[in-house]
Amino acid sequence: MPQIGWYGLGSMGLAMASNLQRHLTSKRAMNLIYSNRTMARGDTLKALGGTPESSFPDLVAKCGIIFTMVSNDTVLQQLISSATGSGLSLRDKIFVDCSTVHPETVGLTVAKLKTKEASFVAAPVFGGNPIAVDGKLVFAIGGPKHASDAVKPLIQDVMGRKIIDCGEDATRSSLLKIAGNIVTVNMMEAVGEAQVFAERTGLGTGPMEELIGEAFGPVAGGYSKRLTTGVYAPPLASRPGFGVSLAIKDAKHALAMAKDSEVELPGLKLALDNMEAAREYGGECLDSSSMYGVLRQKAGLPFWNEKSRQGNSS
Ligand SMILES: NC(=O)c1ccc[n+]([C@@H]2O[C@H](COP(=O)([O-])OP(=O)(O)OC[C@H]3O[C@@H](n4cnc5c(N)ncnc54)[C@H](OP(=O)(O)O)[C@@H]3O)[C@@H](O)[C@H]2O)c1
Repeated sequence: MPQIGWYGLGSMGLAMASNLQRHLTSKRAMNLIYSNRTMARGDTLKALGGTPESSFPDLVAKCGIIFTMVSNDTVLQQLISSATGSGLSLRDKIFVDCSTVHPETVGLTVAKLKTKEASFVAAPVFGGNPIAVDGKLVFAIGGPKHASDAVKPLIQDVMGRKIIDCGEDATRSSLLKIAGNIVTVNMMEAVGEAQVFAERTGLGTGPMEELIGEAFGPVAGGYSKRLTTGVYAPPLASRPGFGVSLAIKDAKHALAMAKDSEVELPGLKLALDNMEAAREYGGECLDSSSMYGVLRQKAGLPFWNEKSRQGNSS
C-alpha cells in the first residue's frame, strides 16, 4: 500500500481521516500523513497515530495517494496549484478529492494533473458529521479505473458504507453530488417549514419530529433534530455540522448548472434565499438548516429557539 496523505480536518475531514487512520493501524500499514490550515485540529488524529506535516507540497512529496476534504472550489484549486507549481514530480500520484465542488472545477483539475502524469478521482460524499464519524458515508466516485480501484479499499467499510461508481469521467461524480444536494437542501427547507407550522398551530415540535423520523426516514429525522436541539444556530466560535456557506455554495452550483440546461429549481431557489437571509441575520456560525430561523421570523417567532444560541454576541 502506498503512503496515504490527507489534507482538510474540518467537520467532515477529521472524522473521515480518523477512520482511515484506524483502518491503516488495523492493517499495520504506514500511518496517515495529515495536514490542515489549522494544524491543531489534528491533535486527536495524531493521538491515533497520524503524522503531521504542515506543508501541503511536502505532504504530496511523501505520499502516493493524497485525499483532500476542503470547503470549496477555490481552496481545492489553491492546493492543487501549490502541488503542480512546486516543481515536484507528481508522476503516478493519485489525488482524491471528497469535497463538494463544481464539475467544471473537477474537469480543470483533471487536466492540470494530467500534464504532470498524475490522476484525479472525484469522491464527494453524502451524509453529515455523525455519519462520517460512524464510517457510513455514501461516496460517489469517478476517475481513471486504476486510480478508483486503488482508492476503493480505503473507502468501503472504512469511511463509507456504499460507493456509487460513476465511471472514468470524474466530473460525473461531482455532478451527482450537486444533484443530490438539491434534495438535501429542499428537505431541510421542508422540515423547517413543517416544524414552524407545528409550533405555531400548537401541534408541537415533539410529535412532528416523531412523525418525520418514522414516516420520512432517519435523514429527515436528523434534520428535524438539528432544529429542535438548536444546532441550526450553534454557539459562536463552534464549528457548525454543515456550515450555511457550504450549502449556499452547493445550491449556487446546482442553480448555475440548471440554468445552463434550462431547468428550473424553484424550491432550491427559495431555500437558497432563506439560507442567505439567515446568514445575513446570524452570520457565518450557522448550520445549513438555519433557514429555519428565517422561517420562524416570517411566522412571527424569534430567529433563535430555546435550545439555540440566543444572539450574535454570545
Ligand atoms: N458538513 C457536511 O455535512 C457535509 C456533507 C457532505 C459534503 N460536505 C462538503 O465537504 C466539504 C468539507 O465540509 P466540512 O463540513 O468538513 O467543512 P468545514 O468544517 O468548514 O472544513 C473545511 C476545511 O477546509 C479548510 N479550509 C477552509 N478554507 C481554507 C483555506 N482558505 N485554505 C486552506 N484550507 C481551508 C478548513 O481548514 P481549517 O480547519 O483551518 O478551518 C477545513 O479543513 C465541503 O465541500 C462541503 O460542502 C459537507
